[in-house]
Amino acid sequence: MPESDIKPPVSLAEYAAAVGRPGALARPVPVRIASVGAYAPERVVTNHDLSKTLDTSDEWITSRTGIRERRVAAPEEATSDLALKAAQRALDAAGMAPEELDLVLCATITGDYPFPSTASLLQHRLGARRAAAFDLSAACSGFVYGCAVGSGLIASGIHRNALVVGAECMSRVLDWTDRSTCVLFGDGAGAAVLLPVEEVPAPGQPFSGFLGFDLGSDGAGSVFLNVPAGGSRAPMTPELLADRQGFLKMSGTDVFKFAVRIIVESSLSILEKCGYEVSDVTCLVAHQANTRIIDAAMKRLEIPAEKVVVNVDRYGNTSAASVPIVLAEAEADGRLRRGDLVLMVGFGAGLTWASSLLRW
Ligand code: UT7
Repeated sequence: MPESDIKPPVSLAEYAAAVGRPGALARPVPVRIASVGAYAPERVVTNHDLSKTLDTSDEWITSRTGIRERRVAAPEEATSDLALKAAQRALDAAGMAPEELDLVLCATITGDYPFPSTASLLQHRLGARRAAAFDLSAACSGFVYGCAVGSGLIASGIHRNALVVGAECMSRVLDWTDRSTCVLFGDGAGAAVLLPVEEVPAPGQPFSGFLGFDLGSDGAGSVFLNVPAGGSRAPMTPELLADRQGFLKMSGTDVFKFAVRIIVESSLSILEKCGYEVSDVTCLVAHQANTRIIDAAMKRLEIPAEKVVVNVDRYGNTSAASVPIVLAEAEADGRLRRGDLVLMVGFGAGLTWASSLLRW
């Protein structure tokens, strides 16, 4: 895409007037997802594989989580390697050259290094020489948080476009001797190119763009899902290492209850703020942690299963990568079509949550 083709967004007021609903409280953001791309490492680890070294079974994992297999990065692969491939696919799909990018934003909790940011590594490797870059830490909510930040920067005129990536090597922070956590997660990356909405949508015509965001955090729940050691609170020591404190710890039941509650609350909140009903949603893309979480939330929201995209069976929980991987797959297989009203919901460590309503 020639640089001159990227135009400034239409004004917030014009966009809101064209796409907003009377009485709605959310401020629509005149920014759209122009393209998506995803990548997952080649190595597939099945539940059966895990049962060879752990006291677990395919039956337990499948029935309690819906997960059948997950992807695990090769020893030489790191988060920026996965992010690079997903980003290149998204840029190709947008017909955009890396030099045109203004911003590279990477949502991750498993960056290549404590610093510098994985986004900076990605920016360099993409050849996005004019782009600003930073990481965003909101765990499994990270991609939706990233869309809010990226689109806000575009709508404000600070950047003309943004590449928002969710990428994780969860396998590197898992305790592979802890059956209660290591069976749940996987590695992967997804990316989206965000561009301004350039023309005010005509009344009744299909358009693409964000209609609103609902972001939140409850740090009181930080104890339920974390990596205790290796940060400034508890720098790594041989004792902490031996005590396996550098690995992910989770109180599954507490996170489960939070997840079901917050999917419902945040979905209803963003729908109300934007002036829509649950029945208006054509496609729900929730963070992929556990089919039981998604099923319980869908039941409470009364969203039929055919509107819900699920791929946790093949990838496990890929944290910030899960929502964009679902988007990329759903678009590729035709489940996401232009004009669809899409509800994205992320939730995870922090505890954090993030929802967005958008026209695809
Ligand atoms: O991205 C957001 C982060 N994560 C999540 O959203 C995960 C939220 N939590 C969950 O998905 C579920 O709570 C889990 C899948 C983690 C656990 O499911 P659960 O039905 O809540 O099981 P539980 O923790 O109550 O454990 C039931 C039993 C326990 O045995 P006892 O104490 O009843 O004898 C566990 O030790 O299952 C045992 N268990 C396992 N057994 C076989 C735990 N993990 C395994 C395993 N294989 N992998």
